[in-house]
Amino acid sequence: MKSVITGSGIGIPKNVVRNDALTKIMDTTDEWIRARSGIEQRHYADAGQGSAELGAMAARAALDVAGRSKDDIDAIIFATMTPNFFFPGNGPVIQAKMGFRESMPTFDIRQQCSGFLYGLDLADSLIQSGKYRRLLLIGADVHTPFMPWKSGGWGAMIGEPAKELTPEDYAFNTSIRDRTVLFGDGAGAVVIEASQNGNRGFLGAKLFTDGSNIEALYVPGVGFRRRPYVDQDQVSRAEPIPVMEGREVFKQAVSKMPEAVRAICAAAGVEVQDIDLLLVHQANLRIVEGVGKQLGLPAEKVPHNIERYGNTTAGTLPILYHECLADGRIKPGMLLCFTALGSGLHWGAALYRT
Ligand code: ACO
Repeated sequence: MKSVITGSGIGIPKNVVRNDALTKIMDTTDEWIRARSGIEQRHYADAGQGSAELGAMAARAALDVAGRSKDDIDAIIFATMTPNFFFPGNGPVIQAKMGFRESMPTFDIRQQCSGFLYGLDLADSLIQSGKYRRLLLIGADVHTPFMPWKSGGWGAMIGEPAKELTPEDYAFNTSIRDRTVLFGDGAGAVVIEASQNGNRGFLGAKLFTDGSNIEALYVPGVGFRRRPYVDQDQVSRAEPIPVMEGREVFKQAVSKMPEAVRAICAAAGVEVQDIDLLLVHQANLRIVEGVGKQLGLPAEKVPHNIERYGNTTAGTLPILYHECLADGRIKPGMLLCFTALGSGLHWGAALYRT
């Protein structure tokens, strides 16, 4: 028995923010952003549109494509590092919002940029256990709430009249520019089902965790070893905003993802060169290209869409999968490899036969 993806969908907010818009509220340039990350634009959610709302958009589309109704789903896995509430997670939010029955188990997982990858392996394990036959897996993140732009900054981003920015706001926005320019909001979802058609489906995953340098990419404030867990001092020190050692994470990404791909290929008894399409977490185009190069795969086997969405964290892999399927790059019988690395660090790779 194999776990097979029978439908996919995406939830992309309508506000397109091009690099030039960001230059109005911080000291950055289109050239810097393109050259360092490959990003040309990203989408920002509306105020009040959280990861659960974008996830619901993607989930409805995935159910439609799979030809399944809400009653056909046995359990939901929601991967996000930006849930609508600190607690509960997005599981109950999506259950109520989409009108799933009360007897629906919902699993909330995090794993940041590796959330969808971990979710795939969890979904397969739950299906292989025989307990569930049909799962909905959602990966969604909204990063705009991490971007505390004041004095009309939001207006300038989304086409509303821009109010004057104070020099202090401009300086603050510039102080966090290495992170804010990289991220966008978005969601993807897949329906995964048990199938007896032995050739197609999930072939396995290798997942890894190394918490020895959590500070490389984390949110220093708003945590429960603090008492109280959030206060005005933390806010004034900008501790609810993620910090990232960009170069260190970059280095880890271009070495650990190829290692994970090689490990899962060896475990599955296939050659790296047999991979038809390598779906890499979209954090930086230079990382995506670096991973493809390390593995000796030609550029056409390593698709990317970061130029249009930026890094949508748990959303990137299902959005990329959905787009490659929609434009015909994914064809029946292909060997796909998903790989991701992000905060934790968590990373890994999974193989899937279409
Ligand atoms: N605009 C203009 N200049 C900038 C910007 C900006 N937006 N951001 C930083 N700079 C400046 C810096 O201040 C620095 O200036 P200096 O030389 O005068 O000090 C210069 O540009 C170079 O900065 P670096 O940080 O060395 O640039 P780098 O080439 O490493 O690129 C980047 C930075 C894009 C962040 C890169 O390191 C990267 O992509 N890292 C990995 C990100 C990642 O994979 N994250 C994991 C997923 S996210 C998750 O899990 C939630």
